[in-house]
Formats: sequence, C-alpha cells, structure tokens
Amino acid sequence: MADMLDSDMAKPLLETDRGNSVRTLGACSGETVGILGTGDFARSLATRLLCSGFKVVVGSREPKRRAGTFPPEAELTFQEDAVKRAQVVFVALFREHYPSLSGLSEAMAGKILVDVSNNLEVEVNRESNAEYLASLFPQSAVVKGFNVVSAWALQSGSRDGNKQVLICSDCPDARSHIAGIARSMGFIPVDMGGLCSAREIENLPHRLLPFWKVPVLLAVGLFLFFYLYNFVRSVLHPYLMENKNKFYKIPVELVNVTLPCVSYVLLSLVYLPGVLAAFYQLRRGTKYRPFPDWLDQWMLHRKQIGLVSFFCASLHALYSLCLPMRRSARYTLINEAVKQVKANLSSAWVEEEVWRMEIYVSFGIMALGALSLLAVTSLPSISNSMNWREFSFIQCQLGFVALVIGTLHTLTFGWRRAFDGNHYKFHLPPTFTLTLLVPFVIILGKIILLLPCVNRRLMMIRRGWERGCSVRLTNVNLTTDLPEISSPV
Ligand SMILES: Cc1cc2nc3c(=O)[nH]c(=O)nc-3n(C[C@H](O)[C@H](O)[C@H](O)COP(=O)(O)OP(=O)(O)OC[C@H]3O[C@@H](n4cnc5c(N)ncnc54)[C@H](O)[C@@H]3O)c2cc1C
Ligand SMILES: NC(=O)c1ccc[n+]([C@@H]2O[C@H](COP(=O)([O-])OP(=O)(O)OC[C@H]3O[C@@H](n4cnc5c(N)ncnc54)[C@H](OP(=O)(O)O)[C@@H]3O)[C@@H](O)[C@H]2O)c1
Ligand code: HEM
Repeated sequence: MADMLDSDMAKPLLETDRGNSVRTLGACSGETVGILGTGDFARSLATRLLCSGFKVVVGSREPKRRAGTFPPEAELTFQEDAVKRAQVVFVALFREHYPSLSGLSEAMAGKILVDVSNNLEVEVNRESNAEYLASLFPQSAVVKGFNVVSAWALQSGSRDGNKQVLICSDCPDARSHIAGIARSMGFIPVDMGGLCSAREIENLPHRLLPFWKVPVLLAVGLFLFFYLYNFVRSVLHPYLMENKNKFYKIPVELVNVTLPCVSYVLLSLVYLPGVLAAFYQLRRGTKYRPFPDWLDQWMLHRKQIGLVSFFCASLHALYSLCLPMRRSARYTLINEAVKQVKANLSSAWVEEEVWRMEIYVSFGIMALGALSLLAVTSLPSISNSMNWREFSFIQCQLGFVALVIGTLHTLTFGWRRAFDGNHYKFHLPPTFTLTLLVPFVIILGKIILLLPCVNRRLMMIRRGWERGCSVRLTNVNLTTDLPEISSPV
C-alpha cells in the first residue's frame, strides 16, 4: 500500500475541475467515504480512494475477519458504524444481498448511497439494481455509478481502458458530489441524468463489440467461400486432373489469394450502400423518407466492415512479402533455372510480365497506404482533431480512391487471365474475376452520379429539395456545404 501511495497512482489522473457543479479535488479531499462490503471491488475502491486523499471507513458483517485484507489506512468496522460516519456510502454488495441491509435504514437516511453493482445477465430483473436500492431506502439519495469500472481498473489508477464513469441519480446534488469524487480519483464522470438511466448503465458491461458481429461473420463467410473456391481450383484440380500434389499451397498461397479477395469485397461493400442510398434518394425525390431498415443497418456497420477489410489487406501484404522466402518458392526457382540451362536459354526475362508485376505491386502498396490513412483517421483521438469536412473527405474521397487503386491492382494482377481458357479450372473462372463484380457496379454507379444532370439533382435533394414540393433553392453553390433554402413560395 505504501508503495502505491508513493507511486504515480497516488496522483489522480485529472486534478482540475473545470465544471461548475462538480466538486473540486480540494473540496472532496479529506472527506470520509464509507464502503459496505469487503470484496474485490470494495478493496480496490478503498485503495484508490485513499490514494486520492479520502478517508475510508469500511463496513462489514465481520470486520475482524476481513481486517488483514485492506490497507492499514482504511478503517474496518461494523456496517452501521461505517454508515453513520460517512455522508457518502458505496454499496459494494451484490443486489441479492441488499435486503440484508434493511436494519440500516435509519442510519442511511439522508446519506448518498452509490450503487456500483452489475448483473450476471442483461435485464434479468424488472427494475434496475439502483432503482431497487432506492426503493429499499427511500430516505437516501441513490446514485448509480462506477459499475463500468473493474476492480482492476480501480487499482491500476484508471490507466487501462476507458476512463469514463457513467453516473445517474434523481438527486442532482448527489450526482454532482459523486461526479466530484470520480474526478478526484482520476476518472471522467459522464452525467447520464435521472435514475431511470441506471438500467442502460447496468447493461453496458454486458456489451461485447456489438457492431463487430456482422462484419466479422461476413468476413469469415467470405473467407470460407473464397478459400474453398481456391482450394478446388489450385489444389484439387491439379491433384485430380494432372495427378500433381499441390497441397503445400494450403497454409500460405491459398490464404494469400483468399485474404485479398475478402479484403477487396469488404471494401466494395463499404462503398456500395452510399451509391444505393443516392439512387434511393433520386428515385424518391427526397431525402426525408427513411431508408429501408437493411440499408440503414448496412450503413451503420461500414466503419467496422472497412476496418476488417484493412486488417485482411494488411495480412495479405505481409503474406505477399513472405512469398519469395518460402522453401517451395526457392525450389521452384532452382527448377526453373535448371530447365533454362538444359534448354540453353540465357535469359528468361519476359518484359510484359516484369511490367505487369511492377505495376500491380505498386498499386497494391498505394491501395494499402490509402486504407491505412482511413484506418488512422477512424481512431477517436485523430477523428476528434478533424472537422467534419476533413473527416468526410478522407473517408469518402480517399476511401473511394483506395477502392479504385485496389481495382487497378487486381486488374493488373489478373491481366489477360480472365480471357484465357487454360485458367478456367473445372470451368471455374480465376478468383479475381469474381471479386471485380461489385467494385465495377460501384464505379459505374459513381460515374452515373457524377453526371452533371444527376449530380445537380442529388445535391438539391441532399439540401432539402423535394419532388412535388415547392421549395426554391437560391444562390446555391452546389460544390459547398452551405445550404440556402428559401422559404416555400
Ligand atoms: C479502413 C477504413 C476505416 C473506416 N473508418 C470509418 C470511420 O471511422 N467512421 C465512419 O463513419 N466510416 C468509416 N469507414 C467507412 C467509410 O469510409 C465511410 O462510411 C464513408 O463515409 C463512406 O462514404 P460514401 O461516400 O460511400 O458514403 P456517405 O458519405 O455516407 O454517403 C454519401 C452521401 O449520402 C448521404 N447520406 C449518408 N447517409 C445518409 C442518411 N442516413 N440519410 C441521408 N443521407 C445520407 C450524405 O449526404 C453523403 O454525402 C471506414 C472505412 C475503411 C475502409
Ligand atoms: N469485481 C469487479 O470487478 C466489479 C466491477 C464492477 C462492479 N462490481 C460490483 O461490486 C459489487 C461487489 O463485487 P465484488 O466483486 O467485490 O464481490 P465480492 O468479492 O463477492 O464481495 C461482496 C461482499 O458482499 C458481502 N456479502 C457477501 N455475502 C453477503 C450476504 N449474504 N449478505 C450481505 N453481504 C454479503 C461481503 O462482505 P462482508 O462479508 O464484509 O459483509 C463480500 O465481501 C457487486 O455488486 C458487483 O457487481 C464489481
Ligand atoms: C502492400 C500492399 C500489397 C501487396 C504487396 C500486394 C501483393 C499482391 C500479390 C503478390 C498478389 C498475387 C498473389 C498470389 O498470386 O498469390 C496480389 C493479389 C491480389 N491482391 Fe494484392 N497486394 C497488396 C495490397 C492489396 C490491397 C490493399 C488489395 C485490396 C483491397 C489487394 C487485392 C488483391 C487481390 C483481389 C488479388 C487477387 C487475388 C487472386 O484472385 O488471386 N491487394 N496482391
């Protein structure tokens, strides 16, 4: 404990308080805070509070038994005594044990009770834990908070993970007071309003990457499809038709043909909904009618789909760089050299092949570079430093450029193979031809949308014009974002 007090954990991460209603560090420091319960959370909380300058009194059913488990600076006593000595009491018990506190009603009257509890499952109970606590102690001000912080995060001084602590209460003063304590402990309090938000706050720790499920499943589905397709073409076909063993391709080559296909198709799925949305708006002649639910959902998942695409493209780049260092590649090279010597050929240089590869690798690198920029700007710390226009420029324009360069990379890689019957195995076309379909539709769609007559109408719609409504747009510079919509005439 002494070590901890000396370390940087002893210093709250945020010392200043710029808010008006929130208590400052100075105002909170030195205050006695009560904690009911002596479990993991109570222990971490006590340690963090002590490090932040508070006095801590812990209430237990058996204070003597728990004495050794807390820092010596924390005072362990019976529950009632702890409640009587503090104005703020953290209830670090599970919900099912709340009724065991009923004998403390009188001592708890007028105090601020902080409910830190979580449930094992989402929405198991009719009312939130905090509302339940409030119903048991109607004379106390119940505040929900700190449940989104783990005991570990409390101990490590909130440096790991999210520093935000969501707080809600029907008593604004109590809410501000607890927000002040959270700030003094180095957390960032987020005011969530009344106690009716407690259910939402209690559900938060159960959330596990909700927007990632669909994109990841999509990527896995595409991976399985392309992997199987490539396996049939590149391994099964030579084995069955030419009696050649190409199973060595399974770990690297097949993966390196599959990954870029997944990445490229996902990238095109990021930009397809924007085109579909534009055509919807053009057909309906308004932007005020909501999109179909599937399109809305699709648009909401684009960030995650794009990041999964970037991930696959990065792996593809790494795999590609490793291709020449494999033993199979070396043996193939040596065998080719021996064949060349036997055939008395002095040079195997094929000018067209050299140029093709130089160009497609260069396009690949450029596409990955553009995608990396998109990925970097999607980090909250970077996107927060950009205005809407800059962010949208990078995401829409540069993203589309990445798709176009990726298409050039794929086309130069495929070259004439799409038209060469020898590359159709079991009548299956080369894999890259399948991936080109959606990007071609997008590029064609974008070209149509850029036609002046179409583009003008789309811009008008996006500025509020509606077909059949007499809204007149005046002085509109359609290349800027400042709408000037006159009142209906
Ligand atoms: C590596 C990577 C990272 C990415 N990171 C992010 C990210 O951090 N955040 C993010 O949002 N996307 C991200 N994306 C996804 C993608 O870049 C963006 O969604 C991008 O804005 C799509 O551009 P768009 O031109 O197709 O569509 P949009 O810009 O969405 O749409 C084009 C036009 O449609 C209109 N429009 C769009 N939605 C609606 C609507 N609901 N109602 C009415 N009109 C509408 C707008 O007027 C807009 O001008 C990422 C993609 C990749 C590949
Ligand atoms: N652990 C975390 O990371 C974490 C994170 C966020 C929120 N929380 C919440 O914090 C609360 C406590 O969690 P925890 O991990 O510290 O739990 P815990 O280790 O099980 O401790 C709970 C404490 O409750 C008391 N208790 C146990 N049985 C009881 C009973 N039958 N009647 C009355 N009191 C009883 C005990 O204290 P005494 O024996 O001293 O009375 C015990 O130490 C929970 O609501 C949890 O959801 C925990
Ligand atoms: C540093 C960046 C990149 C490099 C070095 C690179 C290199 C390569 C190589 C060597 C191949 C041939 C693979 C093989 O024959 O086994 C290839 C194919 C391909 N690449 Fe890339 N690439 C890069 C980035 C990208 C990106 C960003 C995309 C798409 C978003 C992409 C999409 C494709 C596609 C679709 C194929 C065709 C796969 C097939 O059908 O066989 N690549 N690339």
